[in-house]
Amino acid sequence: MKWLSLALALAAPSQAYLRFGCATLSVQRLDPVVQPGSVPSSHLHQIVGGNAFNATMDPAVDVGNKATCTTCSFSEDFSNYWTAVLYFKHQNGSYKRVPQYPNALLGSLTGGMTIYYVQQDFNSNGKTKITSFKPGFRMTVGSPTTAQGSNPGLRYTCLKDIMTRGSETNDFPKAPCAAGIMAIHHFPACWDGKNLDSPNHQDHMYNTVKGAFQNAGACPSSHPVRMPQVAYETMWNTTQFNDKSMWPKDGSQPFVWSFDDSKGYGTHGDYLFGWKGDALQRAMDATSLTGTDLKTQSVAQANKCAIQTTVKEPIDGCKSSCILRKGLN
Ligand SMILES: *[C@@H]1O[C@H](CO)[C@@H](O)[C@H](O)[C@H]1NC(C)=O
Ligand SMILES: *[C@@H]1O[C@H](CO)[C@@H](O)[C@H](O)[C@H]1NC(C)=O
Ligand SMILES: *[C@@H]1O[C@H](CO)[C@@H](O)[C@H](O)[C@H]1NC(C)=O
Repeated sequence: MKWLSLALALAAPSQAYLRFGCATLSVQRLDPVVQPGSVPSSHLHQIVGGNAFNATMDPAVDVGNKATCTTCSFSEDFSNYWTAVLYFKHQNGSYKRVPQYPNALLGSLTGGMTIYYVQQDFNSNGKTKITSFKPGFRMTVGSPTTAQGSNPGLRYTCLKDIMTRGSETNDFPKAPCAAGIMAIHHFPACWDGKNLDSPNHQDHMYNTVKGAFQNAGACPSSHPVRMPQVAYETMWNTTQFNDKSMWPKDGSQPFVWSFDDSKGYGTHGDYLFGWKGDALQRAMDATSLTGTDLKTQSVAQANKCAIQTTVKEPIDGCKSSCILRKGLN
């Protein structure tokens, strides 16, 4: 299987992280972590992972047992991963959704994201035990109301080509990017050891992340349990909007998150754990991540996993107010 060997080869050089693609599962206004039960939630999300995703996901239910398929290349990973959705705002005020494209290294998945579970850092397993998340665990990073970017784990890369890395900014790139915009979300990796969630979905975790997969340093005594450092990379294909004559005449940039953020500082991500059984723990315990017995599936199988659309509304664009979602028009 070409795909399988490719996935394994990618984990090989450093053996300190799992990196894999997950195709788009759904693009809908649902948010079972921040707004459970709300149909619709306040803003549009792009979601990848297992098909147990729904408006309400009871923490008492083990997603790893409930889901029956996943869009991720590791077929035992029924977790859900989601972020907001990017729009392009035309000069006449109408909005058009920006398509996503997959990391070409990881096979021809449909849209989606690249997911990382990093051990100590990108190049080392370290000596610290990495404890897997538990069923029911969820967390968020970032906040749609943040007005200034200060979290080094939440960044943008202006892609000259699909392999561009580095030169990260904490706001949207201010000029067209030939191969699109990569949105990067690093989650905190220090847990309080007790709570699967917290009222703001963040206080049960402590963020030591320095960004760019650097060693984040020791966890504090308040949050002593080291978890895998989860990260998302989403490639937004801005190509059709890169003609500068389409850009605002006042020099501002035209991209807007679905929660009405045209600076990009409010970028945020949601994570809901759902690996089957002890698969993730076994992988983290393996001294070499190439030596894990994690099961994989083909790109075709990953692309096939889907859920029903509960919130039936146009999402690809609108004349004016689709961002604020006070009714599409
Ligand atoms: C998701 O929720 C809807 C409405 O609450 C329900 O009809 C549907 O069965 C649920 N889907 C799953 C997979 O649980
Ligand atoms: C990006 O979008 C352009 C224009 O719509 C399209 O031609 C191209 O194939 C897309 N690139 C990828 C990698 O999907
Ligand atoms: C706004 O401009 C875009 C780009 O020219 C065009 O595709 C769209 O139809 C326009 N929308 C309205 C409401 O005129």
